[in-house]
Amino acid sequence: MKIAIVGTGYVGLVTGTCFSEMGIDVTCVDVQESKIENLKKGIIPIYEPGLEDMVHRNYTAGRLKFTTDLKECLDEVEVVFSAVGTPPDEDGSADLKYVLEVARTIGRNMNKYVLVVTKSTVPVGTAQKVKSAIQEELDKRNVKIEFDVASNPEFLKEGDAVDDFMKPDRVVVGVESEKAKAIMERLYKPFMMNNYRLIFTDIPSAEMIKYAANSMLATRISFMNDIANLCELVGADVNMVRKGIGADSRIGSKFLYPGCGYGGSCFPKDVKALIKTAEKNGYPMRVLKAVEEVNERQKSILFEKLLKHYNGDLKGKQIALWGLAFKPETDDMREAPALVLIDKLIGAGANVKVYDPIAMDECRRRIGDKVVYATDMYDAVLDADALLLVTEWKEFRMPSWGVVKKTMKKAVVVDGRNIYEKKELIEAGIEYSCIGK
Ligand code: UDX
Repeated sequence: MKIAIVGTGYVGLVTGTCFSEMGIDVTCVDVQESKIENLKKGIIPIYEPGLEDMVHRNYTAGRLKFTTDLKECLDEVEVVFSAVGTPPDEDGSADLKYVLEVARTIGRNMNKYVLVVTKSTVPVGTAQKVKSAIQEELDKRNVKIEFDVASNPEFLKEGDAVDDFMKPDRVVVGVESEKAKAIMERLYKPFMMNNYRLIFTDIPSAEMIKYAANSMLATRISFMNDIANLCELVGADVNMVRKGIGADSRIGSKFLYPGCGYGGSCFPKDVKALIKTAEKNGYPMRVLKAVEEVNERQKSILFEKLLKHYNGDLKGKQIALWGLAFKPETDDMREAPALVLIDKLIGAGANVKVYDPIAMDECRRRIGDKVVYATDMYDAVLDADALLLVTEWKEFRMPSWGVVKKTMKKAVVVDGRNIYEKKELIEAGIEYSCIGK
C-alpha cells in the first residue's frame, strides 16, 4: 500500500514514520525545502525519543521518502493524510488555510481515486470544507474523479509519540463511505494485533472527539489544581486526595496530578478552539472557560509562593529554575509555565538562572539572554535564593540535597510538580514547599 503524508511536523512525521515501520510505502511531503533536505540526511526537526532511528531505518530501506512536491506522488498513492498545521488565528479559532491549500492542490492534480484523511486537529465541519475545496478544483478542470474524505484525529503525546502511535489505546476514524472504511481498516490493522480498538464514527463526531478528549483531560488537570490549592487552605494533602479519588474506577488514576499548569501545543490551543466553536454556535462553554482561567492562574503559582516567602520583595534575588520544557522528554516550550514564571520573576526584579536537559536552545531562541543559562543543574543553584522545580525531568528526581544546600545562598525549594519527599529536604536543612499540601 502506498500513502502520502503532507506536513512533516510533529504529527505528520511520527505518522509517516510509524506507517513505514509497518511496511507501508510512505512519502512525506513538506513545502519547506530545508526540512526535507535535512530529513533525507536523517536530521529530524523535533526531539522525540526513538524517532530519529526509525526515520533512518525506514529511509534507508526505501519505505520512507521525502519530497516537497505532492503532485509527484499523487498518481501512485491510495491515501493522502493531511497533517499540516492549524495555528490559532487572532480569536483562538483554528486557521484552516494550510489544510484547504492541501485540498486544493489535490483537486488540481489528482487523476484517480484518492482518500483524503485529515489528521490535523480541525474544527467540526472541516472535512466538508476539504471535500468542497477538492470538488471545486475538479469542477474547474471539468473532470469527474471519485474521491473520499475521512477524519482521523491523532492522540499521541509528545515524548511518547512513537509508542503511542505503534500501540494506540484506540484509533478513531470518521468516514462516510464503505470504501474509505475498508481502506482505513487495512491501513491500521497491523497496529491492532493485540488490542482491536479501531472506532469508526461519522465525520463530525470524529472531529469532535479530539477536542472533547483534550478538553476533558485539561479539565481534570485544572480541577485538580483547584483542589490542590484548596487542600493547602484547609490543611489536606492533595497527594492523598488524588490517590483516594483515583481509586474509584469511574474516575481512574491518570491525569490527576496537580502542578504549575498545563502547557504544550494541544491542550491550550484545543480548549480555546472548542470555546470558539461553541461561541460560534451560540453556546457558551462555561466549564471550559473556567478550566482556562484556573490554568492561567496556576502558571503563576510558584511565583506567588516565592513572593509570599520573601514578603513581597524579590528585587535582586537570584532564582534558579529546573526545567523549561512544558513537560519532560521534549524540547517544546509552547505555552510552557516556565515562560510565565520567568516573565513574572524578571518583572519583580529577580535574576533568573535556568537549566533544562534538552530545551536550553529552544529557550534561547524564544527569550534570548533575559535569563542566564546554567551549565548543569547544580550550576543553576549557585548562590541562589530559591530553586523552583518546573519540569519533572528524570535527572531532577534525586538530586544530592547536601550539594544543593551548600551551593545555594538560601536553601529554599519550591517543587512545582510534587516530586520530592519533604522529609529529605527538611533533614538536609532546606525549606520546602510544593503544590497542595
Ligand atoms: C496531549 C494529549 O495527552 C494527547 O493525547 C494529545 O494528542 C495532545 O495533547 P501532550 O500535550 O503531548 O499531549 O502532553 P501531556 O503528557 O498530555 O501533558 C500536557 C500537559 O498537562 C503538560 O503540561 C503536563 O505537565 C500537564 N499535566 C498532565 C498535568 O499538569 N497533570 C497531569 O496529571 C497530566
